[in-house]
Amino acid sequence: MDRVQIFDTTLRDGEQSPGATMNVEEKLAIARQLDHLGVDVIEAGFAASSEGDFDAVRRVAELVSRPIVLSLARTREQDVDRAIRAVEPAKRPGIHIFIATSDIHLQHKLMMSRREVIDAAVWAVTRAKRHLDYVEFSAEDASRSDPEYLVEIFTAVIEAGACTINVPDTTGYALPEEYGALFRRLRERVPGAERIIWSAHCHNDLGMAVANSLAAVQNGARQIECTVNGIGERAGNTSMEEVVMAIKTRRERFGVDTGIVTEQIYPTSRLLAQITGIPIPINKPIVGDNAFAHEAGIHQDGVLKNRLNYEIMKPETVGLDSNRLVLGKHSGRHAFVARLKELGLELGDLDMNRAFGRFKALADQKKNVYDEDLIALVAEESRHSGVRDRYELVYLNVTSSSMAVPYATVKLRIDGEEVLGHGTGDGMVDACYKVISDLTGQHPHLERYAVKAITGGTDALGDVTCLVSEDAHTVTGQGSHTDIIQASALAYVNALNKLEYRRQYRRRQQAEVGP
Ligand code: KIV
Ligand code: ZN
Repeated sequence: MDRVQIFDTTLRDGEQSPGATMNVEEKLAIARQLDHLGVDVIEAGFAASSEGDFDAVRRVAELVSRPIVLSLARTREQDVDRAIRAVEPAKRPGIHIFIATSDIHLQHKLMMSRREVIDAAVWAVTRAKRHLDYVEFSAEDASRSDPEYLVEIFTAVIEAGACTINVPDTTGYALPEEYGALFRRLRERVPGAERIIWSAHCHNDLGMAVANSLAAVQNGARQIECTVNGIGERAGNTSMEEVVMAIKTRRERFGVDTGIVTEQIYPTSRLLAQITGIPIPINKPIVGDNAFAHEAGIHQDGVLKNRLNYEIMKPETVGLDSNRLVLGKHSGRHAFVARLKELGLELGDLDMNRAFGRFKALADQKKNVYDEDLIALVAEESRHSGVRDRYELVYLNVTSSSMAVPYATVKLRIDGEEVLGHGTGDGMVDACYKVISDLTGQHPHLERYAVKAITGGTDALGDVTCLVSEDAHTVTGQGSHTDIIQASALAYVNALNKLEYRRQYRRRQQAEVGP
């Protein structure tokens, strides 16, 4: 079987989703999980875009040894050099250089001629190739570019040493037939096409990212660039779990394989949703809550007689163990760690004593601790480890009744100092958010607030996500707790910490640039 490489760009293109900003520790938790999942390439960030991205790429490069670790770079000297420096610690380092090739982008964005773009691309690939073996080149907006110009630029960068050529459908405009035909044409026309890996990179604006990626595979692409849960700019990128399971389930049709450990799909998907706060639609293929649920009596009857009647994949294949009871209050540390490992959720550098303490507290409150609870716990821990949070929730008391105005008392630790505040609000969550805002002096706009039970039962962990914005920048805060008001407060504090983290970066960057 031919092998299709899975290139994961959750930490780069995926992070460009509104509200998906992750701190370094969160990125490391995702990278560790991507390694368990078996992805071939991790695009860890865009090193030249900020100090934070540079750090994240470098730390991922230090952390994982099996997958290739890449940084994105424009064709500028500073970008290429930063990317090379960031991936230096990687066992298998690489760089992903891109420049736009459509006439629309050349005329209205780059203000460059076709010749100048080719020269810039060749220059950047040549420079990178002096330091790195693995050089990927992308023609941004390739699907709206003149195919003959693509032949010209790809021929030139292959001669300069690029070993992977990516043909992005940047705007999600292509149709499967067209996108497949583009690969066929390029592979026929570009000299040396058989020596390099052809890569598909699709956006989902018309809901065709997965179909387009599969059409590319049927026409010789041997790398798919995708993100977990399909997160990404606008309508998102090709969804990793959908494209991988399509290839596996319809193997006889595609005649190719991926190296993905499909049992790790579900834990990976849930971990990302927990960390970013971007919810998974309940009807999302493969990982949505309803993906394997049968409601209609006739379907339930059919499934009970033989699952094959209505199921084309087994839930276990994607790591879904239907809320298998794993641990309880008598479970020890060994069982806790072993189950995390089975789920592929090793805590890495996280504080294991703290995590186990939180697990015990949870098991005391909740009789049954399910896999989903453990995934939420690890996500909550990765949110706090390694990064010094400015704000910490110490204590919360909220009272309310149908006859009285909700009243909240909140104690926070701000830069190590405890502060206490009280106030009323239009509902318990509102009261508590107002007090937190007064104590911190932060009043961002609350764009969205959502609460969800992680598992069934009235003692379930409540998972709260809030999207807040400041200066047109959005961040997502997340918190989970058996008490949803406490979970709401944790989510808001988490969002304020992310905004603070971002402010500090901006201050540092401004200080570096100078007045
Ligand atoms: O969508 C796109 O064109 C990209 C490139 C940078 C590869 O993300
Ligand atoms: Zn993209």
